[in-house]
Amino acid sequence: MIALGCDHAGLEAKQKLIAYLEQRGYKCKDFGTYTSDSCDYPDYAYAVAKAVQSGQCDRGILICGTGVGMSIAANKVKGIRCAACSDSFTAEMTRRHNNANILAMGARVISVDKMIELAEIFLNTIFEEGRHLRRLEKIAEIERKEG
Ligand code: RB5
Repeated sequence: MIALGCDHAGLEAKQKLIAYLEQRGYKCKDFGTYTSDSCDYPDYAYAVAKAVQSGQCDRGILICGTGVGMSIAANKVKGIRCAACSDSFTAEMTRRHNNANILAMGARVISVDKMIELAEIFLNTIFEEGRHLRRLEKIAEIERKEG
C-alpha cells in the first residue's frame, strides 16, 4: 500500500499520479488534502509519515510546491527517510543507498510525467544494504540521541 499526501499546490499532480499508479495495479491510500483550498503541508506530511512508520503503508509519496516543506516535516517522524527528488538519478540513489521510505516532489518544479517516472523508480529500486546499513544505523542513533 502506498500512502499519498499533498497540499493545495500538489493536489492536481497527486490526483493524476494516483490515477496512474492505480491503473498500474498499485494500491493507494490518499491522506489528503482533497480540495484546492489553501492548507498546511505539515498536516499531510505527518499523516503519511505516520502511516509509513506504523507499517500501515509500505511507502509514501508527498507532493507540495517544491517537495521541500513536505520532506522537512516528514523527516521529523522517527524512522522516516524522506527524500525530495526532482531527477531520476537522485530517486534511484535514495533507494539504493538511503533506503528512503517516502518520496517528496514539487508540483512547481517538475511535470506530472517526471513525477510518474520518479515514482516508478522509487517504487521499484531495492536498497543495496551492505555498508549503507551502517550509515542508516548512525541516522537512527541520531534519532535516539535527540529523543
Ligand atoms: C505552498 O505555497 C508552498 O509553500 C508549499 O506547497 C511547499 O512548496 C512548501 O515547501
